Amino acid sequence: MTLVLGLETSCDESAVALVESKAGVFKVLSSQIASQIAVHAQWGGVVPEIASRKHLEALPHLIEDVFQESGLSISSVDAIASTVSPGLVGALLVGSVTARTLSALHNLPFLGIHHLEGHLASVLLSKVPLDPPYLVLLVSGGHTELIQVVEQGNYERLARSHDDAAGEAFDKVARLLGLPYPGGPAIELAAKEGDPQRFSLPKGRISRPGGGFYPYDFSFSGLKTAMLRRIQTFQDLGESLPVSDLAASFENVVSEVLVERSIQCALDRCMDKIVMVGGVAANVRLRGLMAKRCRENSIQLHLALKEFCTDNAAMVAAAGLERLKLGCASSSFDLGVSARWPLEESGAFYQDQVPF
Ligand code: KG4
Ligand code: ZN
Repeated sequence: MTLVLGLETSCDESAVALVESKAGVFKVLSSQIASQIAVHAQWGGVVPEIASRKHLEALPHLIEDVFQESGLSISSVDAIASTVSPGLVGALLVGSVTARTLSALHNLPFLGIHHLEGHLASVLLSKVPLDPPYLVLLVSGGHTELIQVVEQGNYERLARSHDDAAGEAFDKVARLLGLPYPGGPAIELAAKEGDPQRFSLPKGRISRPGGGFYPYDFSFSGLKTAMLRRIQTFQDLGESLPVSDLAASFENVVSEVLVERSIQCALDRCMDKIVMVGGVAANVRLRGLMAKRCRENSIQLHLALKEFCTDNAAMVAAAGLERLKLGCASSSFDLGVSARWPLEESGAFYQDQVPF
């Protein structure tokens, strides 16, 4: 049995979790999240300085809570994992310094974790056996990517968004519609009563320099502009906004684009397993459409549980457990934090020569 304490502070969720691995099966013993959403909502988005301060306030309590809920003490822990990149630098520092301090005090290995590797590991908390190779659609507030997991710890990015991430598009369009932050859940709620076919909206494509399009890449900025134009037309006419229909049509086209390109990519690459993770993967319409199209194409679908789609620390602990399994015993205390770092190079976090 291996037990990892995970910390996540890359953006606006302070989170701590205890996850154990027994015979390769992960069990979440406690997962605590102190959401800062209400604080940032007043500003319409995340304020980095406020995020760091709130992490500092929340972490000690969350750490106490996970030990209380699990009935364990730090003496049972085998390693401490904390997100070190990508994210808001000040926010990442709070989690990373806390993890390194606890590690030093209790003589435990410290594991720096790549936030996207955390999202990838979130699907392993579903307890359904999953072996590489597989294709991951990672859809969050900061990233929209198709990643091939060749083997554990070996990643190849096959597609990305060239402008906004899908979650970012949800957040921006929600603001245009007068809905609160974060936009994803707000649009999902408004869309429930709406007609997803009422408005025809563009499925952004990225041109290739030599002609044609990149087959799997994404673009959401044109869709955002199309939504803005629709909204302005209603406003110019002095008519009230059909918020539900607009929200449903937007949610529908985003889901179609994400699903169509993922399926095409899997079929072209002869991959028979798709994994969907990240905040936007909590969306019920997207989950339903992906399940339907995977069934039609005989592709196995693995979804992260909804509670582990948005940022949490159980996924960070799970990524730590995977790294231990791969033989990455610890990260150097000299490892800092970084706003950006390629997922493909996250193995560098476990070498003596630190990358940042
Ligand atoms: O993974 P996440 O918690 O943080 C990042 O790593 O970015 O994702 C947050 C994003 C936000 O943009 C939020 O609007 C979106 O995920 N989101 C959703 C839903 N829940 C969260 N988007 C669509 N439908 C949802 N139910
Ligand atoms: Zn995230």
